[in-house]
Amino acid sequence: MTTRIIGTGSYMPEHIVTNDDLAKIVETSDEWIRSRTGIGERRIATVENTSDMAAKAAQAALRQAGIGADEIDLILLGTSSPDHCFPNGACEVQAQIGAVNAACFDISAACSGYVFALNTAHAFISTGLYRTALVIGADVLSKLIDWADRGTCVLFGDGAGATVVRADEKGILGMNMHSEGAKGGVLTCGSRSNGNFLLGKKPDLGYMTMDGQEVFKFAVKKVPECINEVLENTHTFKDEVAYFVIHQANYRIIESIAKRMKIDADKFPVNMEHYGNTSAASVPILLDEMNRAGKIKSGDKIVLSGFGGGLTWGATLLEW
Ligand code: ACO
Repeated sequence: MTTRIIGTGSYMPEHIVTNDDLAKIVETSDEWIRSRTGIGERRIATVENTSDMAAKAAQAALRQAGIGADEIDLILLGTSSPDHCFPNGACEVQAQIGAVNAACFDISAACSGYVFALNTAHAFISTGLYRTALVIGADVLSKLIDWADRGTCVLFGDGAGATVVRADEKGILGMNMHSEGAKGGVLTCGSRSNGNFLLGKKPDLGYMTMDGQEVFKFAVKKVPECINEVLENTHTFKDEVAYFVIHQANYRIIESIAKRMKIDADKFPVNMEHYGNTSAASVPILLDEMNRAGKIKSGDKIVLSGFGGGLTWGATLLEW
Protein backbone atom coordinates (compact mmCIF):
# COMPACT_ATOMS: atom_id res chain seq x y z
CA MET A 1 0.00 0.00 0.00
CA THR A 2 1.28 3.45 -0.87
CA THR A 3 0.04 7.05 -0.89
CA ARG A 4 -1.61 8.73 -3.84
CA ILE A 5 -2.43 12.39 -4.48
CA ILE A 6 -6.16 12.49 -5.27
CA GLY A 7 -6.73 16.26 -5.25
CA THR A 8 -4.74 19.50 -5.43
CA GLY A 9 -5.59 23.10 -4.59
CA SER A 10 -3.90 26.44 -4.05
CA TYR A 11 -4.60 29.95 -2.89
CA MET A 12 -2.65 33.15 -3.48
CA PRO A 13 -3.48 36.57 -2.04
CA GLU A 14 -4.85 39.05 -4.58
CA HIS A 15 -2.42 41.89 -3.88
CA ILE A 16 0.42 41.97 -6.45
CA VAL A 17 3.74 43.67 -5.67
CA THR A 18 5.95 44.09 -8.73
CA ASN A 19 9.72 44.53 -8.83
CA ASP A 20 9.13 48.15 -9.80
CA ASP A 21 7.01 48.58 -6.65
CA LEU A 22 9.93 47.29 -4.57
CA ALA A 23 12.34 49.64 -6.33
CA LYS A 24 10.35 52.45 -4.69
CA ILE A 25 11.17 51.21 -1.17
CA VAL A 26 14.70 49.75 -1.48
CA GLU A 27 17.60 50.39 -3.85
CA THR A 28 16.99 47.71 -6.46
CA SER A 29 15.63 47.33 -10.00
CA ASP A 30 13.43 45.03 -12.06
CA GLU A 31 16.52 44.13 -14.13
CA TRP A 32 18.58 43.14 -11.02
CA ILE A 33 15.84 40.99 -9.52
CA ARG A 34 14.80 39.29 -12.78
CA SER A 35 18.32 38.51 -13.93
CA ARG A 36 19.42 37.06 -10.57
CA THR A 37 16.22 35.23 -9.58
CA GLY A 38 13.68 35.01 -12.41
CA ILE A 39 11.13 36.78 -10.17
CA GLY A 40 8.95 39.53 -11.67
CA GLU A 41 6.20 39.95 -9.06
CA ARG A 42 4.84 38.33 -5.94
CA ARG A 43 1.53 38.13 -4.04
CA ILE A 44 1.49 39.68 -0.58
CA ALA A 45 -1.14 38.89 2.05
CA THR A 46 -3.01 42.00 3.17
CA VAL A 47 -5.96 40.47 5.01
CA GLU A 48 -5.11 36.75 5.09
CA ASN A 49 -3.11 34.81 7.65
CA THR A 50 -1.31 31.52 6.99
CA SER A 51 -4.23 29.44 8.28
CA ASP A 52 -6.74 31.32 6.07
CA MET A 53 -4.71 30.70 2.92
CA ALA A 54 -4.04 27.07 3.92
CA ALA A 55 -7.76 26.46 4.55
CA LYS A 56 -8.73 27.92 1.16
CA ALA A 57 -6.13 25.78 -0.64
CA ALA A 58 -7.33 22.74 1.33
CA GLN A 59 -10.97 23.34 0.38
CA ALA A 60 -10.01 23.54 -3.30
CA ALA A 61 -8.09 20.25 -2.99
CA LEU A 62 -11.02 18.57 -1.20
CA ARG A 63 -13.43 19.75 -3.92
CA GLN A 64 -11.21 18.30 -6.61
CA ALA A 65 -10.79 15.03 -4.71
CA GLY A 66 -14.56 14.89 -4.28
CA ILE A 67 -14.44 13.99 -0.60
CA GLY A 68 -15.77 15.64 2.54
CA ALA A 69 -13.62 17.23 5.24
CA ASP A 70 -14.93 14.66 7.72
CA GLU A 71 -13.10 11.93 5.77
CA ILE A 72 -9.70 13.41 6.61
CA ASP A 73 -7.78 11.46 9.29
CA LEU A 74 -4.66 13.63 9.40
CA ILE A 75 -3.76 17.24 8.56
CA LEU A 76 -0.08 18.10 8.18
CA LEU A 77 0.80 21.74 7.53
CA GLY A 78 4.33 22.54 6.39
CA THR A 79 4.97 26.11 7.47
CA SER A 80 7.50 28.32 9.18
CA SER A 81 5.05 31.19 9.61
CA PRO A 82 2.08 29.76 11.53
CA ASP A 83 -0.35 32.29 12.98
CA HIS A 84 0.61 31.19 16.50
CA CYS A 85 3.09 28.92 18.32
CA PHE A 86 -0.08 27.23 19.49
CA PRO A 87 -2.68 26.32 18.50
CA ASN A 88 -0.72 24.89 15.61
CA GLY A 89 -1.65 25.95 12.09
CA ALA A 90 -3.02 22.54 11.12
CA CYS A 91 -5.51 22.75 14.03
CA GLU A 92 -6.55 26.20 12.79
CA VAL A 93 -7.14 24.77 9.32
CA GLN A 94 -9.13 21.93 10.87
CA ALA A 95 -11.39 24.45 12.60
CA GLN A 96 -11.92 26.45 9.40
CA ILE A 97 -12.78 23.49 7.18
CA GLY A 98 -14.56 21.29 9.73
CA ALA A 99 -12.25 18.28 9.47
CA VAL A 100 -13.46 17.07 12.85
CA ASN A 101 -11.95 13.58 12.64
CA ALA A 102 -8.37 14.62 11.87
CA ALA A 103 -5.24 14.63 14.03
CA CYS A 104 -3.40 17.85 13.22
CA PHE A 105 0.14 19.13 13.52
CA ASP A 106 2.65 21.36 11.75
CA ILE A 107 5.91 20.36 10.13
CA SER A 108 8.62 22.99 10.52
CA ALA A 109 11.21 22.49 7.78
CA ALA A 110 11.17 25.93 6.10
CA CYS A 111 11.00 25.65 2.31
CA SER A 112 11.19 21.83 2.54
CA GLY A 113 8.01 21.88 4.64
CA TYR A 114 5.60 20.49 2.06
CA VAL A 115 7.90 17.69 0.89
CA PHE A 116 8.66 16.73 4.52
CA ALA A 117 4.92 16.81 5.32
CA LEU A 118 4.05 14.65 2.30
CA ASN A 119 6.74 12.13 3.20
CA THR A 120 5.52 12.08 6.82
CA ALA A 121 1.92 11.50 5.71
CA HIS A 122 3.19 8.67 3.49
CA ALA A 123 4.93 7.09 6.50
CA PHE A 124 1.63 7.07 8.43
CA ILE A 125 -0.46 5.89 5.48
CA SER A 126 1.87 3.15 4.29
CA THR A 127 1.91 1.61 7.77
CA GLY A 128 -1.89 1.60 7.82
CA LEU A 129 -2.27 4.07 10.71
CA TYR A 130 -4.24 6.56 8.62
CA ARG A 131 -6.05 6.34 5.28
CA THR A 132 -6.66 9.91 4.10
CA ALA A 133 -4.58 13.01 4.81
CA LEU A 134 -4.52 16.66 3.89
CA VAL A 135 -0.96 17.78 3.23
CA ILE A 136 -0.48 21.53 2.96
CA GLY A 137 2.39 23.98 2.47
CA ALA A 138 1.61 27.59 3.40
CA ASP A 139 3.67 30.62 4.35
CA VAL A 140 3.35 34.37 4.81
CA LEU A 141 7.02 35.28 4.86
CA SER A 142 6.02 38.87 4.08
CA LYS A 143 5.33 39.15 7.82
CA LEU A 144 8.80 37.90 8.76
CA ILE A 145 11.11 39.78 6.41
CA ASP A 146 12.75 43.14 6.81
CA TRP A 147 11.26 45.29 4.05
CA ALA A 148 14.34 47.54 4.28
CA ASP A 149 16.72 44.64 3.47
CA ARG A 150 17.02 44.41 -0.31
CA GLY A 151 19.04 41.20 0.00
CA THR A 152 15.97 39.27 1.18
CA CYS A 153 12.77 41.29 0.66
CA VAL A 154 12.83 40.97 -3.13
CA LEU A 155 12.80 37.16 -3.01
CA PHE A 156 9.63 36.13 -1.22
CA GLY A 157 5.87 35.98 -1.74
CA ASP A 158 2.90 34.58 0.18
CA GLY A 159 0.66 31.64 -0.72
CA ALA A 160 -0.61 28.15 0.04
CA GLY A 161 -0.83 24.85 -1.79
CA ALA A 162 -2.59 21.69 -0.65
CA THR A 163 -3.00 18.05 -1.62
CA VAL A 164 -5.40 15.37 -0.49
CA VAL A 165 -3.62 12.03 -0.30
CA ARG A 166 -5.10 8.59 0.23
CA ALA A 167 -3.94 4.98 0.62
CA ASP A 168 -3.84 3.33 -2.82
CA GLU A 169 -2.05 0.72 -4.90
CA LYS A 170 -0.15 3.34 -6.88
CA GLY A 171 1.36 6.70 -5.92
CA ILE A 172 4.54 7.41 -3.98
CA LEU A 173 7.38 5.15 -5.13
CA GLY A 174 10.16 6.45 -2.92
CA MET A 175 11.24 9.36 -0.76
CA ASN A 176 14.01 10.79 1.38
CA MET A 177 14.57 13.60 3.87
CA HIS A 178 17.87 15.09 5.04
CA SER A 179 19.02 17.74 7.49
CA GLU A 180 22.25 19.48 8.43
CA GLY A 181 21.65 21.46 11.61
CA ALA A 182 25.29 22.51 11.85
CA LYS A 183 24.75 24.79 8.84
CA GLY A 184 21.47 26.26 10.17
CA GLY A 185 23.02 29.72 10.56
CA VAL A 186 22.99 30.45 6.83
CA LEU A 187 19.20 30.94 6.88
CA THR A 188 17.45 31.98 10.10
CA CYS A 189 14.25 33.67 11.18
CA GLY A 190 12.26 34.51 14.31
CA SER A 191 14.69 33.85 17.17
CA ARG A 192 12.91 33.57 20.51
CA SER A 193 16.12 32.89 22.44
CA ASN A 194 16.86 36.49 23.42
CA GLY A 195 13.95 36.85 25.85
CA ASN A 196 15.08 36.81 29.49
CA PHE A 197 12.92 36.35 32.58
CA LEU A 198 15.50 37.74 35.03
CA LEU A 199 16.11 40.86 32.94
CA GLY A 200 12.38 41.27 32.25
CA LYS A 201 13.15 41.25 28.51
CA LYS A 202 10.54 40.15 26.01
CA PRO A 203 11.92 38.16 23.05
CA ASP A 204 12.66 40.25 19.99
CA LEU A 205 11.73 37.82 17.21
CA GLY A 206 14.07 39.33 14.63
CA TYR A 207 13.82 39.29 10.86
CA MET A 208 15.01 36.71 8.37
CA THR A 209 18.76 36.54 7.80
CA MET A 210 20.31 34.79 4.82
CA ASP A 211 23.74 34.10 3.36
CA GLY A 212 22.47 34.01 -0.23
CA GLN A 213 25.58 32.55 -1.81
CA GLU A 214 25.82 29.72 0.76
CA VAL A 215 22.13 28.89 0.18
CA PHE A 216 22.75 28.86 -3.56
CA LYS A 217 25.72 26.46 -3.22
CA PHE A 218 23.80 24.23 -0.80
CA ALA A 219 20.81 23.96 -3.14
CA VAL A 220 22.70 23.13 -6.31
CA LYS A 221 24.69 20.42 -4.50
CA LYS A 222 22.06 18.78 -2.29
CA VAL A 223 19.01 18.80 -4.58
CA PRO A 224 20.71 16.70 -7.32
CA GLU A 225 22.04 14.36 -4.60
CA CYS A 226 18.62 13.67 -3.08
CA ILE A 227 16.96 13.33 -6.49
CA ASN A 228 19.61 10.84 -7.62
CA GLU A 229 19.16 8.98 -4.33
CA VAL A 230 15.40 8.54 -4.78
CA LEU A 231 15.86 7.50 -8.43
CA GLU A 232 18.55 4.94 -7.56
CA ASN A 233 16.57 3.50 -4.65
CA THR A 234 13.55 2.94 -6.90
CA HIS A 235 15.58 1.74 -9.93
CA THR A 236 14.19 4.62 -11.98
CA PHE A 237 16.10 6.26 -14.85
CA LYS A 238 15.94 10.05 -14.98
CA ASP A 239 14.59 9.81 -18.56
CA GLU A 240 11.50 8.06 -17.18
CA VAL A 241 10.58 11.15 -15.13
CA ALA A 242 8.07 13.50 -16.78
CA TYR A 243 8.63 16.48 -14.44
CA PHE A 244 10.95 17.62 -11.68
CA VAL A 245 8.89 19.94 -9.47
CA ILE A 246 11.50 21.75 -7.39
CA HIS A 247 11.09 24.42 -4.70
CA GLN A 248 10.71 27.71 -6.59
CA ALA A 249 13.41 29.74 -4.80
CA ASN A 250 15.20 31.08 -7.79
CA TYR A 251 15.39 30.38 -11.53
CA ARG A 252 19.19 30.29 -11.53
CA ILE A 253 19.22 27.58 -8.87
CA ILE A 254 16.83 25.43 -10.94
CA GLU A 255 18.79 26.05 -14.14
CA SER A 256 22.01 24.99 -12.39
CA ILE A 257 20.37 21.85 -10.99
CA ALA A 258 19.09 20.86 -14.46
CA LYS A 259 22.53 21.46 -15.97
CA ARG A 260 24.35 19.57 -13.23
CA MET A 261 21.98 16.60 -13.66
CA LYS A 262 22.17 16.77 -17.48
CA ILE A 263 18.39 16.96 -17.72
CA ASP A 264 16.52 19.20 -20.16
CA ALA A 265 15.46 22.38 -18.32
CA ASP A 266 11.96 21.98 -19.90
CA LYS A 267 11.37 19.13 -17.46
CA PHE A 268 11.67 21.62 -14.58
CA PRO A 269 8.46 23.69 -14.62
CA VAL A 270 8.75 27.15 -13.05
CA ASN A 271 6.30 29.80 -11.84
CA MET A 272 8.43 32.00 -9.58
CA GLU A 273 8.12 34.84 -12.10
CA HIS A 274 4.59 35.49 -10.79
CA TYR A 275 4.79 34.36 -7.16
CA GLY A 276 8.41 34.69 -6.00
CA ASN A 277 9.61 32.21 -3.41
CA THR A 278 6.54 31.10 -1.44
CA SER A 279 8.63 28.84 0.83
CA ALA A 280 6.76 25.66 1.88
CA ALA A 281 3.91 26.52 -0.50
CA SER A 282 5.89 26.61 -3.73
CA VAL A 283 5.91 22.90 -4.61
CA PRO A 284 2.16 22.27 -4.03
CA ILE A 285 1.19 25.56 -5.75
CA LEU A 286 3.16 24.56 -8.86
CA LEU A 287 1.79 21.02 -8.73
CA ASP A 288 -1.77 22.39 -8.55
CA GLU A 289 -1.15 24.74 -11.49
CA MET A 290 0.20 21.88 -13.61
CA ASN A 291 -2.62 19.56 -12.58
CA ARG A 292 -5.36 22.10 -13.33
CA ALA A 293 -3.74 22.95 -16.68
CA GLY A 294 -3.98 19.23 -17.61
CA LYS A 295 -0.20 18.90 -17.93
CA ILE A 296 0.05 15.75 -15.82
CA LYS A 297 -1.13 12.43 -17.27
CA SER A 298 -2.07 9.30 -15.39
CA GLY A 299 1.07 7.18 -15.04
CA ASP A 300 3.49 10.13 -15.27
CA LYS A 301 6.43 9.85 -12.91
CA ILE A 302 7.10 13.09 -11.04
CA VAL A 303 9.89 14.06 -8.68
CA LEU A 304 9.11 16.65 -6.01
CA SER A 305 12.02 18.24 -4.16
CA GLY A 306 12.30 20.89 -1.46
CA PHE A 307 15.27 22.58 0.18
CA GLY A 308 15.54 25.29 2.77
CA GLY A 309 16.32 26.48 6.28
CA GLY A 310 17.47 23.97 8.85
CA LEU A 311 19.22 23.16 6.61
CA THR A 312 16.72 20.66 5.23
CA TRP A 313 16.24 18.98 1.86
CA GLY A 314 14.48 15.96 0.43
CA ALA A 315 12.71 14.39 -2.52
CA THR A 316 9.67 12.30 -3.35
CA LEU A 317 9.16 10.20 -6.49
CA LEU A 318 5.55 9.43 -7.32
CA GLU A 319 3.49 7.95 -10.11
CA TRP A 320 0.42 10.07 -10.93
N1 ACO B 1 19.02 44.83 -5.71
C1 ACO B 1 20.18 45.37 -6.13
N2 ACO B 1 21.36 45.00 -5.61
C2 ACO B 1 21.36 44.04 -4.65
C3 ACO B 1 20.17 43.45 -4.18
C4 ACO B 1 18.97 43.88 -4.76
N3 ACO B 1 17.78 43.38 -4.38
N4 ACO B 1 20.49 42.53 -3.24
C5 ACO B 1 21.82 42.54 -3.12
N5 ACO B 1 22.36 43.46 -3.95
C6 ACO B 1 23.74 43.83 -4.15
C7 ACO B 1 24.61 43.45 -2.98
O1 ACO B 1 24.55 44.44 -1.97
C8 ACO B 1 25.96 43.37 -3.64
O2 ACO B 1 26.47 44.67 -3.78
P1 ACO B 1 28.04 44.98 -3.55
O3 ACO B 1 28.75 44.17 -4.59
O4 ACO B 1 28.12 46.45 -3.74
O5 ACO B 1 28.32 44.51 -2.16
C9 ACO B 1 25.66 42.86 -5.03
O6 ACO B 1 24.27 43.09 -5.25
C10 ACO B 1 25.93 41.38 -5.20
O7 ACO B 1 25.37 40.73 -4.08
P2 ACO B 1 25.43 39.18 -3.96
O8 ACO B 1 24.78 38.75 -2.68
O9 ACO B 1 26.82 38.72 -4.23
O10 ACO B 1 24.49 38.80 -5.18
P3 ACO B 1 24.31 37.39 -5.84
O11 ACO B 1 24.71 37.44 -7.25
O12 ACO B 1 24.84 36.30 -4.98
O13 ACO B 1 22.72 37.28 -5.82
C11 ACO B 1 21.00 36.22 -4.54
C12 ACO B 1 22.03 37.31 -4.58
C13 ACO B 1 19.99 36.43 -5.65
C14 ACO B 1 20.28 36.24 -3.20
C15 ACO B 1 21.75 34.88 -4.75
O14 ACO B 1 22.80 34.74 -3.83
C16 ACO B 1 20.84 33.72 -4.61
O15 ACO B 1 20.04 33.46 -5.48
N6 ACO B 1 20.96 32.95 -3.53
C17 ACO B 1 20.04 31.91 -3.23
C18 ACO B 1 19.21 32.39 -2.12
C19 ACO B 1 17.80 31.98 -2.20
O16 ACO B 1 17.23 31.64 -3.21
N7 ACO B 1 17.21 32.06 -1.07
C20 ACO B 1 15.86 31.79 -0.97
C21 ACO B 1 15.53 31.60 0.42
S1 ACO B 1 15.97 30.14 0.99
C22 ACO B 1 15.11 28.98 0.35
O17 ACO B 1 14.08 29.16 -0.21
C23 ACO B 1 15.72 27.74 0.48
